[in-house]
Amino acid sequence: MPTFAQVMEEVMDTTKVKEAVRDRYSEAARRVTSGGASCCATPTAASCCDAITSNLYDNAQKDALPDTAVFASLGCGNPSALAQLSEGEIVLDLGSGGGIDVLLSARRVGPTGKVYGLDMTDEMLALARENQRKAGIQNVEFLKGEIEHIPLPDNSVDVIISNCVINLSGDKDRVLQEAFRVLRPSGRFAVSDVVTRGEVPAEIRQKMLLWVGCIAGALRDEEYTDKLARAGFQSIGIEPTRVYAIEDAREFLADKGVDVDALAPQVEGKFMSAFIRAVKPVTSANKTVEAACCSTTTCCS
Ligand SMILES: C[S@@+](CC[C@H](N)C(=O)[O-])C[C@H]1O[C@@H](n2cnc3c(N)ncnc32)[C@H](O)[C@@H]1O
Repeated sequence: MPTFAQVMEEVMDTTKVKEAVRDRYSEAARRVTSGGASCCATPTAASCCDAITSNLYDNAQKDALPDTAVFASLGCGNPSALAQLSEGEIVLDLGSGGGIDVLLSARRVGPTGKVYGLDMTDEMLALARENQRKAGIQNVEFLKGEIEHIPLPDNSVDVIISNCVINLSGDKDRVLQEAFRVLRPSGRFAVSDVVTRGEVPAEIRQKMLLWVGCIAGALRDEEYTDKLARAGFQSIGIEPTRVYAIEDAREFLADKGVDVDALAPQVEGKFMSAFIRAVKPVTSANKTVEAACCSTTTCCS
């Protein structure tokens, strides 16, 4: 049977990418449900600890959640801590996994706010709903669907968060257009994701991204900015939160026959997790939409 990495190397089209992603995360959810950790969240899972998913949340955040929400954490940042969230806001988490960021955000927006978690993998949704039940949090709803086709109306969300998911999509333009569509004017995009910086030879890039788990491929920081701008966003910023060292990937790369020491100068400082912010502007077209909405319904609170 081919290894996960071999399958990934052969993956060419977006349907195959999506199937591979779904298989990978249903397996991760099953591991947590059967008493393990998705990867690095427990001391007993140290053998699979990696530089990407480890130590993202502080003890106060972890202590406030069911173990199975913490064990299922597969992100590369802590977007709900970095995002500005206020009481009463509506938040959407793209690719919510076991629900860790949804549950943390739900406490921040309080009972007058609401947090949606969107995920395409049934096993992750089941785990997230069970975590919500254990946490006793009401102002949360997990939705089944794809981040390329968000099942929410236009202008219905104040803040979009996401944690290491957009890099998994084979159609990132579509994801960003959908994010723009569902955000209200002045709504915020506040996402953790893996990005690359500068030139890296294609073969090396592919191997490093396999290590990071970026199945469809991470964007360069400049590409991310361009795509966000093309989707209509403004006030775009990309702030590195964790820059990966070649040492972090040594074992994985050496296993693949890569001469890690020779590779080091081409990799250092170029692969990172980052916090990506942007704002949906209030344009005159948006104002018209809001005015029409306010005059007929209660949707403008
Ligand atoms: C790397 S995990 C991150 C989970 C969660 N954000 C966290 O921090 O633990 C990726 C999650 O995104 C979901 N996912 C990946 N691609 C998706 C897509 N195109 N549409 C919806 N969900 C997707 C997977 O099912 C998985 O639960």
